[in-house]
Amino acid sequence: MSRAYFDALGGEWDRLRERFFSEAVRDKALDAAGVMRGALAVDVGAGTGFVTRGLVARGLRVIAVDESPVMLDALSKKQALAAGVIDCRAGGADRLPLEDDAADYCFANMLLHHVETPLLAIREMVRVVRPGGRVVVTDLDAHDHEFLRTEHHDRWLGFAREDIRRWFQAAGLTDVRVESAGEDCCATSCDGRAAAVTIFLGLGTVGRPPGKGSTRPA
Ligand SMILES: C[S@@+](CC[C@H](N)C(=O)[O-])C[C@H]1O[C@@H](n2cnc3c(N)ncnc32)[C@H](O)[C@@H]1O
Repeated sequence: MSRAYFDALGGEWDRLRERFFSEAVRDKALDAAGVMRGALAVDVGAGTGFVTRGLVARGLRVIAVDESPVMLDALSKKQALAAGVIDCRAGGADRLPLEDDAADYCFANMLLHHVETPLLAIREMVRVVRPGGRVVVTDLDAHDHEFLRTEHHDRWLGFAREDIRRWFQAAGLTDVRVESAGEDCCATSCDGRAAAVTIFLGLGTVGRPPGKGSTRPA
């Protein structure tokens, strides 16, 4: 649904993103996860690399996944791919192009409101993180700004934090916290209506098997 929108935006996303939300969201997500230098993180719905850049700056290696090859192309043109720090992979959040337990962390900033089935996307994030690793989702709280659906191709008008908590636990995450990220996402419609939507931060630790479910066929 949003694929054509992001394919058309491509390199323009960085400029738009600066108007939507600030770097503080990314810093809070990375701080909440307690990221460690040298670790491997997955950035789902990586876009042009907003979260990926923050992770690399903190000394992590990143697998950046996005369904839009145009967004990934914009990311790879900017980043030091040659240094072998970032691995860009085209793929969907409902079937990540990674093995089970491949990474130490998984981040998804402003992805979840675009996916068809949020629980399936969360299960996939859990699947690709090793037991003891962390999953962090930052996204919009529930809102009623319909223009974000019609003009920005959002599929979901944000989420109730209770749903996020329930989905995290159903996916096998422990020590789940869903709290305010302390930031707003700001947008203006074509006819001048302004929206300031609060952003939540969801954090969980991947449990040990059998709490960890696989979405792969047996
Ligand atoms: C709002 S942008 C956020 C990009 C980036 N995370 C950021 O914070 O700047 C959403 C991104 O998710 C990607 N996306 C949307 N639905 C997806 C899906 N089902 N699977 C993988 N990527 C998806 C889009 O192509 C786009 O790059």
